[in-house]
Amino acid sequence: MNILLLGSGGREHAMAWKITQSRLCSHLFIAPGNAGTAKCGTNLETAVTDFEGLKKICVDENIGMVVVGPEEPLVKGIVDFFAGDKALKKIPVIGPSAKGAQLEGSKAFSKKFMERHQIPTAVYREFDMDNYEEGIKYLEKHPLPIVLKADGLAAGKGVVICQSYVEAMAEYELMLQHSKFGEASRKIVVEEFLNGIELSVFILTDGKHYVILPEAKDYKRIGEEDKGLNTGGMGAISPVPFADETFMNKITDRILKPTIEGLGKDKIDYRGFIFIGVIKIGGDPYVIEYNCRLGDPETEVVLPRLKNDLVELFCAVPEQRLNEFLIEMDERVACTIMAVSRGYPGSYEKGFEITGLDKEVGKDSIVFHAGTLSDGEKILTNGGRVLCVSSFAETIYEAVDKSRDVLEQIDFDGIYYRRDIGYEFL
Ligand code: AMP
Ligand code: GLY
Repeated sequence: MNILLLGSGGREHAMAWKITQSRLCSHLFIAPGNAGTAKCGTNLETAVTDFEGLKKICVDENIGMVVVGPEEPLVKGIVDFFAGDKALKKIPVIGPSAKGAQLEGSKAFSKKFMERHQIPTAVYREFDMDNYEEGIKYLEKHPLPIVLKADGLAAGKGVVICQSYVEAMAEYELMLQHSKFGEASRKIVVEEFLNGIELSVFILTDGKHYVILPEAKDYKRIGEEDKGLNTGGMGAISPVPFADETFMNKITDRILKPTIEGLGKDKIDYRGFIFIGVIKIGGDPYVIEYNCRLGDPETEVVLPRLKNDLVELFCAVPEQRLNEFLIEMDERVACTIMAVSRGYPGSYEKGFEITGLDKEVGKDSIVFHAGTLSDGEKILTNGGRVLCVSSFAETIYEAVDKSRDVLEQIDFDGIYYRRDIGYEFL
């Protein structure tokens, strides 16, 4: 079967790497891809939200399955577009319908969903211009810190944690009155701050059943010891030391099962990944957020640890037979370290040559490209997050060490990476 994968980050390179290991994949096409995915299949210059362009690829290349990496096409309804098109409706798309993608596309929607299905999460209220004054009064009585979230997609920047009332009021005004995040902040969620330790939990569901993939922890801050600005993610580890059996069972009973049952009760057709950002407080799990996709850079440790054939799992999704599968994981520890451009997550330059990619890496390490581009001869930087190195070892310490060794061979102007991924567990 020919498969079309959408996206162009490190997550998609890891997905492409895993998909092409399957006996069920004849040829992989990636739209638009990066210099890494080009080694796994054929990159095509079509945007992930250009549904007509993607339709043409599906018809021309006899595509048998579409796998969606990022959230945007899902929130914009790619699954519904395929289901409603005569030429495309038989092609399964791995991902939820637009309604299901609202779990990520609207914070207010996901909070109401959790409330309705008694899934543990932070206490919240939602506000817009219609109940603006009420929101001010709510903020005045709210304990600090206060979390303000733009309702819609805001490129990962829509959450602001305010340490003072002055900051909270200013942010509230900016988001609602001055459209700080455009359409995305026409409505906002104000919620209590949860103090605990986070992890990322991933499931693949066919709407009736689900399988749990390896869990991961990502490191979002730019600086070592989790200091500085938030980024898309600077590294990740899997497994997560505090995610023991007891805790994972609580997640299953209190979050995963009610989520799948809730989608069923709400008649939401959801056949794809769900990424649940979970926070552990005093031994109990709470949902911070849902995403309708895999995480980046979590995928770069989750998929290397997954022993199952990913395409076999995907084929079971439209047929709703994921109950036939047992997930097998590599017992070793995986870590990934992301190398980024100087200036990231602020503004940065692109187009610098990346050297050292031709050097031998050990059998326990893999280089995944994120923001890279080939000019035919050289590989150039093409984004803030440029590439990451994932490694396996018996301990976090050794895995991090192996990834750092590989990164030392690689260079581009302004390269920066955190050397302390997994530091709190060392
Ligand atoms: P999100 O954009 O929803 O992924 O949120 C970004 C990050 O903000 C999360 O990964 C958490 O670290 C943090 N966060 C979001 N909501 C809360 C909350 N209620 N309490 C504490 N931290 C939060
Ligand atoms: N690493 C967090 C995310 O993918 O949203």
